Amino acid sequence: MHIETDIDLQPLNTFGLPARAATLIHISSEDDLREVLAHPVYGSKAKLVLGGGSNLVLTQDINAVVLKIEIMGRRLLGESADAWIIETGAGETWHDLVVWTLAQGWPGLENLALIPGTVGAAPVQNIGAYGVELRDRFDALDAVELATGRSFSLDAAGCRFSYRHSIFKAELAGKAVITRLRLRLPKPWRPVLEYPDLKRRRLEGADAEPNARQIFDWVCEVRRTKLPDPMVWGNAGSFFKNPIVNQNQLDAIRCQAPGLVSFATPDDRFKLSAGWLIEACGWKGQIRDHVGVYDQQSLVLINRGGATGRQVLALAEAIQHSVFQRFKVHLEIEPQVI
Ligand code: EPU
Repeated sequence: MHIETDIDLQPLNTFGLPARAATLIHISSEDDLREVLAHPVYGSKAKLVLGGGSNLVLTQDINAVVLKIEIMGRRLLGESADAWIIETGAGETWHDLVVWTLAQGWPGLENLALIPGTVGAAPVQNIGAYGVELRDRFDALDAVELATGRSFSLDAAGCRFSYRHSIFKAELAGKAVITRLRLRLPKPWRPVLEYPDLKRRRLEGADAEPNARQIFDWVCEVRRTKLPDPMVWGNAGSFFKNPIVNQNQLDAIRCQAPGLVSFATPDDRFKLSAGWLIEACGWKGQIRDHVGVYDQQSLVLINRGGATGRQVLALAEAIQHSVFQRFKVHLEIEPQVI
């Protein structure tokens, strides 16, 4: 393990928000982690786990010991008639893993291309895009309990995945570090093309039966047109979850907003497009202090240079307030706020 003190966290969070950490420890193995947890100085201190810093809003300096998870390695763990099982360290970059699996001839992650962040962060919020969620490709994970150093494994049921949610945002929040992930890529591969943006691509192009590489390219193109590159505009992806409402709530909102975009969920409720609701309240492209609502996708807040975490939250609260006033729907913030 490698220990650093008084660290600038601005380059370590994709929003580019200013904050300092008193102590940051680089963790490159499970043994490193156990060493920190048994350490006479750091062992008993509060810990903050940092992956790619892509789902984080930093509003203050961090006194907790920051654990930067850099456990690397990826391999084909096994192959059967109905799946490839891939094992990967939590510190690997998610998108690099997607590219690598495709290059190896193991399709299945193409819809999840270009999602920022590390592999270890993926299960925490059950990342998802273009019709696929992590849970659809999940086998199991290994983790270490911070209080005791005990290792444990969880299968999909144990992770209690739901939309942008898992046990790591609930009972295990701040209590465990994910160290390794195993993915199950089903055979035979089947394309997932139901999401409107991909359907449109398929109809427009000559390619009615696209392969995984083609879908990967489409997803990358769609994301690049809709979502800001964090290297250009600091951001944390979607800032709010898409709210889920029942039929009565949907009908009430539809009365005053007939154009509302909604999708039925398997449990007979409706997922509303938060981006649509925010845009309908006039926020698209708006700027406050150093923070903006992205002009191609209102669900994303961007750092226009020099923003603080508090300014980001102030804009988020103003958006929540106006959406609630108009539609009586509460928008829940998606990234972790510290
Ligand atoms: N829309 C608007 N105005 C906007 C944005 C969206 O009217 O400013 C409407 C459009 O009708 C659009 C629809 O909302 O067709 C859906 O928009 P989009 O396809 O961009 O998806 P989203 O629901 O806004 C979710 C995820 C994204 C993911 C995309 C694609 C959440 C919180 N966000 O966004 O995930 O990439 O679907 O699957 O579920 C992330 O989590 O960081 C993220 C980027």
